[in-house]
Amino acid sequence: MLELIKKKKSGDTLSREDYNYIIDGFVAGEIPDYQVAAFLMAVYFKGLNDEETAILTDVMMRSGDLINLSAIKGIKVDKHSTGGVGDKTSLVLGPLVAAAGVPVAKMSGRGLGHTGGTLDKLESIKNLSVSMTRTEFIEKIQAHNIAICGQNATLVPADKKLYALRDVTGTVDNISLIASSIMSKKLACGADAIVIDLKVGEGAYMKTVTEAEPLANMMIDIGKKMNREIIVVISAMHQPLGLTVGNALEVKEAIETLQGKGPKDLTDLCLVLGSYMLVLAKVVPTKEEGLERLKALIDSGAAFNKFKELVKAQGGEVAVVEDTNLLPLAQFQQVYKSPAEGYITHLNALEVGLASVKLGAGRATQTSKIDYGAGVVLQKKIGDYVKKNEPLATLYADNQDHFTKALEYMESAYTINKEAEPPKPLIMKIIR
Ligand code: URA
Repeated sequence: MLELIKKKKSGDTLSREDYNYIIDGFVAGEIPDYQVAAFLMAVYFKGLNDEETAILTDVMMRSGDLINLSAIKGIKVDKHSTGGVGDKTSLVLGPLVAAAGVPVAKMSGRGLGHTGGTLDKLESIKNLSVSMTRTEFIEKIQAHNIAICGQNATLVPADKKLYALRDVTGTVDNISLIASSIMSKKLACGADAIVIDLKVGEGAYMKTVTEAEPLANMMIDIGKKMNREIIVVISAMHQPLGLTVGNALEVKEAIETLQGKGPKDLTDLCLVLGSYMLVLAKVVPTKEEGLERLKALIDSGAAFNKFKELVKAQGGEVAVVEDTNLLPLAQFQQVYKSPAEGYITHLNALEVGLASVKLGAGRATQTSKIDYGAGVVLQKKIGDYVKKNEPLATLYADNQDHFTKALEYMESAYTINKEAEPPKPLIMKIIR
């Protein structure tokens, strides 16, 4: 391992054998964290070339189980979001795309820090379960065209260990390491094609499109080398997506979106991501036809019916979905009022995410408990004109003590100016 650290430190290219040695040894606990940490720092400064990035991805992917979806008919298309605040697109897209006839085999994660997780959101629906065996997962998809389950420890264990080490050694933000981390997990899940929603903005890893583009190209290149078609949609995370941040609050908003009553930004993003999923699944020839198909499924009620079918199939109470007043809602609320009159020019997604964690909606650490009914509902977003003392957001928590710190985050989240700023596009770039 010392030789390999030195090689990478000098900027040399490593072979597949080298990466096998490092990853297998690390996962088996034979190579100590401090050597892998030094190696990661060498990668951070010297980088990996495209070939090495693809090899690392492949080696990581093979560190655990590979899901075989071949028993499910049709082209399986997955969606991945690099994470953001208020991002409930998976809850909308899964049923929407499944209603269009594309099998959706979704393995999702839990929230950590300021970003939420699809599993936690789904579990705010009474009795809904996201644990199932692989056979049950496949059977549910065969029966309903959709299932959403958790990724267990046997899926890409190399990434779990490596990510934890990157997190504490300042080596998360290297594009080869991010690309291999994301792609190894997505490819292990067995999809034939993948749409990646790559977020840019304050609430995301990548702050600008210029930063995001090389990562997008790298993921497409890895896909090409592994025979999987990838489309990357670069979308804005300058402010939270939609109006809600918090588990049950987001489920309610996802349901409204499936019913055609959702906020415009969330609806638009889901339609774009979904239509590219239909293109990759070869259900429609163009994105435009995909958009039409998806809009029709929302208008006819088929998309919402598919969501109900999913909830029922996973043991959840359908009554809760039919009447969202039955979803958990925290006991206490406080309104955050505008400190000034003017236009909202910034609404920092990260700060809103941190406010929601303080309210109990997120996890400060991997083992923290979540209050499903806690979170933030935004009344105003970027571009809105507000009067002094007009409500900007309502905060929900089960503990009154949570409000003080959360309100401080909300204060730093909003910037109000006399002059409006030109609107920023939600969809910033599409790379195929
Ligand atoms: N998301 C991942 O899964 N991995 C990274 O390294 C960064 C974002």
